Amino acid sequence: MTNYQIKTFEDYQEAYKASVEDPAGFWADIAGTFKWHKKWNTVLEWDFEKPDVKWFVGAKLNITENCLDRHLKTRGNKLALIWESNDPKERFIRYTYRELHEKVCQFANVLKNNGAKKGDRICIYMPMIPELAIAVLACARIGAVHSVVFAGFSAASMADRIQDADCSMVLTSDGLNRGAKQIPVKRVVDEALQTCPSVKKVIVVERLGWAVNMVEGRDVWYHEEVVNAAKECPAEEMDAEDILFILYTSGSTGKPKGVVHTVGGYMVYSQYSFSNVFQPEESDVFWCTADIGWITGHTYLLYGPLLNGTTTLMFEGIPTYPDAGRFWQVVDKFGVNIFYTAPTAIRSLMGAGEDHVLSYSLDSLKVLGSVGEPINEEAWYWYYIHVGKEECPLVDTWWQTETGGIMISSLAGVTPTKPSHAAFPLPGIQPVLLDSDGKEITDNEVEGYLCMKFPWPGMIRTTYGDHERCRLSYFSTYKGYYFTGDGAKRNKDGLYRIIGRVDDVINVSGHRFGTAEIEEAINHNKHVVESAVVGYPHDVKGQGIYAFVICNEPPRNVDHLRAEIVETVAKKIGKIAKPDKIQIVSGLPKTRSGKIMRRILRKVAEGDTSNLGDTATLLDPDIVDEIVKGAL
Ligand code: WT7
Repeated sequence: MTNYQIKTFEDYQEAYKASVEDPAGFWADIAGTFKWHKKWNTVLEWDFEKPDVKWFVGAKLNITENCLDRHLKTRGNKLALIWESNDPKERFIRYTYRELHEKVCQFANVLKNNGAKKGDRICIYMPMIPELAIAVLACARIGAVHSVVFAGFSAASMADRIQDADCSMVLTSDGLNRGAKQIPVKRVVDEALQTCPSVKKVIVVERLGWAVNMVEGRDVWYHEEVVNAAKECPAEEMDAEDILFILYTSGSTGKPKGVVHTVGGYMVYSQYSFSNVFQPEESDVFWCTADIGWITGHTYLLYGPLLNGTTTLMFEGIPTYPDAGRFWQVVDKFGVNIFYTAPTAIRSLMGAGEDHVLSYSLDSLKVLGSVGEPINEEAWYWYYIHVGKEECPLVDTWWQTETGGIMISSLAGVTPTKPSHAAFPLPGIQPVLLDSDGKEITDNEVEGYLCMKFPWPGMIRTTYGDHERCRLSYFSTYKGYYFTGDGAKRNKDGLYRIIGRVDDVINVSGHRFGTAEIEEAINHNKHVVESAVVGYPHDVKGQGIYAFVICNEPPRNVDHLRAEIVETVAKKIGKIAKPDKIQIVSGLPKTRSGKIMRRILRKVAEGDTSNLGDTATLLDPDIVDEIVKGAL
């Protein structure tokens, strides 16, 4: 038996071959290294048409025993979690595996004492404080389904997500620190809960020490509850296919959907991908800068490293506070060995100049990672040269909320890297490029729609409460395949390069938004009749949001109107989704059947109006001239 810890390119090739020839055997070997209460009857059952995918069928386990209990004997006194505050002057916090185990058990008991039980959905709306990590694991400990909502989303977004999953509890904090700002988190929760009768309990962690409104019978303080909580909590036995968590993500239509991941497959895939992509050694400190509110934080700040027994670092702040050297200062402070961040962060730090990075030694760094969007060559080289000193392999990791873990990426120091290329699929992953007829393109030096033709343990099982939506979104475009929504190229050596979304999804600083979702928010503004949103290239964010808006009457003050629309979007979705540019137009380029020709709007937004293509089929071709003239 092998556990597939890939150390050489030959290992990679061998593992890849084995994973295709005998997938069940391949994954059974890897899964065999975990602690199960009962082993599976069948490794895999699948049907991409329904879709119906099950891994480790019949197996029983609890993921937190694999994250924590399993390490107590050999790594009990090793650091599990290092937490660094937003404020460099505030003392950091460190928990060993034994301490983290105790904290998680205590939080789990607080949940139970407040009525939570297996299968309940619990919404977590918390800033990046240690209790967020602990709360997530505490849910998993008792078999409750966590639904983490990034604390930058608005009350309305939170309410949508709580209602969709029928959550019975919310875990939150009084407020949060973000750079120089402090934000009243509990107030957002209170607003959201006005439309969420399913929520019976709110547990509030103290972060800022602010006085907050506590609703009698509903809201309790964590620090008051925890004094009565035992330090041991038996782990609930879960079926491998029980839901571990729901995480909402945007698609090209409708409201964000609740991507469902299950306990067994997600566990196996997060540890397997973590250990092989980043190649951590026992004493390494791993830092993923993502918020736990996104999938990257779930899989590579929390579950992956802990499953692997690695020390993981959690940072409350932002890259530019108090200055643009903050990341590098933290790297030196804790001797970070593996650093995983997003291209948007790199580009914003690049803009602040090299001095910030050159004032730190960074000599602990061994591996660098990138995630969330295509990394342009300029950012790739800056990161590689100034941060990695040309000595650290840089892995460009392509994956999605739906894939659970990294799918296409170099394995650090093991397989080839090439700037701006995600490179090769992990063993066990079978990507294909399809042409517009849905046929597999088998040559190299080609471009196509990126799909997967075989399941992997970490993949999405359903969209919560609406299985048909899962089928329609991912399994219906190309029959028999999982469709990623991305376009990709494959070069002559078989390396993949991700081009970006081919659907109506915009990737802003590595965060996904559907154009429909933003338009719906904009249309809530009382002056707006209709709107159309497209993405355009943005130096720092990757893509910016460009909105074309039709008003019910000519605005008296355009700047004022723009500010109001931005405010509406912030209220409906969150500040992260606010349009960068808003152009007021008198009409939109529509076809006779009423469909907006986004192709034209995209060109305008990109500032490339020399060739707008055929506009003859438009209902009102003159509108194009007006839009081009008014372009921002
Ligand atoms: C979309 C998924 C799980 C990663 C965090 C974002 C884009 C992600 C890369 C990369 C080029 C990338 C894709 C994908 N994307 N990583 N390394 N190179 N594009 O997760 O919010 O689910 O978004 O992000 O377009 O489909 P997400």
